Amino acid sequence: MRNGFFSDDEVVGRFYDARLIKRLLGYVGRYAALAVLALVLVLTGMGLFLVNPWLLGRIVDLGIRGRDADMLVKLGCLYGAVELLIFVVTYAHNYLLQVIGQRVMYDLRAEFFSHLQRMPLPFFDRNPVGRLVTRVTNDIATLAELFSSGIVMVIGDLVLIIGIAATLIGLQPTLGLATLSTVPLLAVAAWFFQTRIRMAFREVRTRIARVNAALSENLSGIRVIQIFTQEARRARRFDELNASHRDAQLDSVFYHSLFTPTVTIINAVCIVVVLLLGGHMHQTGALSLGLLVSFLTYAQNFFHPIRNISEKVTIFQSAMASAERVFALLDEPEESGCREGAALGEVRGEIVFDRVSFSYTGTHEVLHEISFTVAPGQSVAIVGHTGAGKTTITALLNRMYEVTRGRILLDGRDLRDIAKFDLRRRIAVIHQDVFLFADTVLENIRLWDPAVPPERVEQIAREIGADPFIRALPHGYRTELQERGANLSTGQRQLISFARALCADPAILVLDEATSSIDSESEKIIQEAIKTLTRGRTCLIIAHRLSTIRHCDRILVLHQGHLVESGTHDELLARRSFYHKLYELQFL
Ligand SMILES: Nc1ncnc2c1ncn2[C@@H]1O[C@H](COP(=O)(O)OP(=O)(O)O)[C@@H](O)[C@H]1O
Ligand SMILES: [Mg+2]
Repeated sequence: MRNGFFSDDEVVGRFYDARLIKRLLGYVGRYAALAVLALVLVLTGMGLFLVNPWLLGRIVDLGIRGRDADMLVKLGCLYGAVELLIFVVTYAHNYLLQVIGQRVMYDLRAEFFSHLQRMPLPFFDRNPVGRLVTRVTNDIATLAELFSSGIVMVIGDLVLIIGIAATLIGLQPTLGLATLSTVPLLAVAAWFFQTRIRMAFREVRTRIARVNAALSENLSGIRVIQIFTQEARRARRFDELNASHRDAQLDSVFYHSLFTPTVTIINAVCIVVVLLLGGHMHQTGALSLGLLVSFLTYAQNFFHPIRNISEKVTIFQSAMASAERVFALLDEPEESGCREGAALGEVRGEIVFDRVSFSYTGTHEVLHEISFTVAPGQSVAIVGHTGAGKTTITALLNRMYEVTRGRILLDGRDLRDIAKFDLRRRIAVIHQDVFLFADTVLENIRLWDPAVPPERVEQIAREIGADPFIRALPHGYRTELQERGANLSTGQRQLISFARALCADPAILVLDEATSSIDSESEKIIQEAIKTLTRGRTCLIIAHRLSTIRHCDRILVLHQGHLVESGTHDELLARRSFYHKLYELQFL
């Protein structure tokens, strides 16, 4: 079976994809001046590389064999100067290319991050966190490598190869062609090894993706694994994946290790050809000793760029694959109506569900023709078995998901005509599992809004009844919470989430089983807090506790996505139907 988690990590890109390259170059566009400068430097460096073997030949012929001490010194110094220049140019273009690569990576990550923040919830249902993190880190780093050591260097290497070939033929056509005769051999070897390296590399990628997926799942579920002591079983499973990755890696290393010595051997053949033929030509006087030295040096240098290019194939390929994945995510439409849409003025808080049906998947409907009205300031409870669709109703209300059919009205206006940001500022949803950020208590309550002064936060906490326990923390409101609030109790986390909601001062409040995991000790505080919270607001309350539901103006009974009953607690009990059964099951 195809596993959604890593399926698209297994896609291996083509070596070259014009569409992707064009889009990637768009990012370099901002640094066009730097890129052009880098290219000029690379080409200059390659030009200098071409000069020195020739100079070497001149030194041998004019300086050494010609016994011209003056010339020897001059040419020797020139040779040194060229080497120094190569040093400077190489340093400069290496640095520049890294600068470009890092800037592009910075830009891509920034774009990706803000894009992710604007993605609608269904997107996160489809894309596990682990995969998104891989995109932002690995894939974008691979792209940066393409810029820092890929494209420009390949152009430079190509120019160098052509330059050397032209120089060889220009200096001595016969010997030049003989030297180049080994190139087809090299081409065949490069093709043979690179195809195998590519195949092995594809396996490596596939398998490392599996290792990553297994690792991240294991860490997320570590509690379950430890509680049910499944460590050994999980370790065995991980071991299989780990070993399979190692083997794939070793396959790729096998060909990789063989490739370099093969190039060296072919290079040696080439040099032997130059030595034998060139040596013979020198003996017959057709070639000066200096030229022979130049030829040998060129032949020696010739193979570096060829090997470089064939190795760049891997970088190109993984960059294309990464680009494909990164762009696919960047192209996913962002939350619509985030910024535009009519502004929402003062909210009274009347909610109308008008024959609302909804499906997460497009096939299976989880809500069927739900209709109800909540008057401004009313508290309405929603009860029903797990999976009845209670949470779904709340997710439709703040447009985390869009209704499939029917409509939801707020103060008589269709939600779809209200800007989402605007809407969400008026609705606070409190869930059972509270998410706390690794920051201070203060920031967790005011959510980094500098417009809310610390005194206001403390006042809110007092109203909620959270103040005493917060003061008892080591640094009070400035206490750093651990990730997800691991250093607080469930009740304390819940109180902070209440304070957070009160701080947002919403017109509409939604409590989704916010009280179900509270121990009876904190129950009293929580009940008081809820009273404070709900005062003067329209409230939708999903609760397991009778004490919470009983005081609601009305109770909606949901069963398998259908609204089966509604009324006050007493009315519904008197009817002795669905609610009555639920009541007996849950509360008695
Ligand atoms: N993100 C989702 N994607 C697909 N199906 C979902 C999603 N969330 C909930 N469901 C399904 O929708 C139905 C109602 O779920 P939910 O509203 O969470 O129920 P409740 O809150 O009443 O327990 C369930 O059958 C559940 O499997
Ligand atoms: Mg629920």
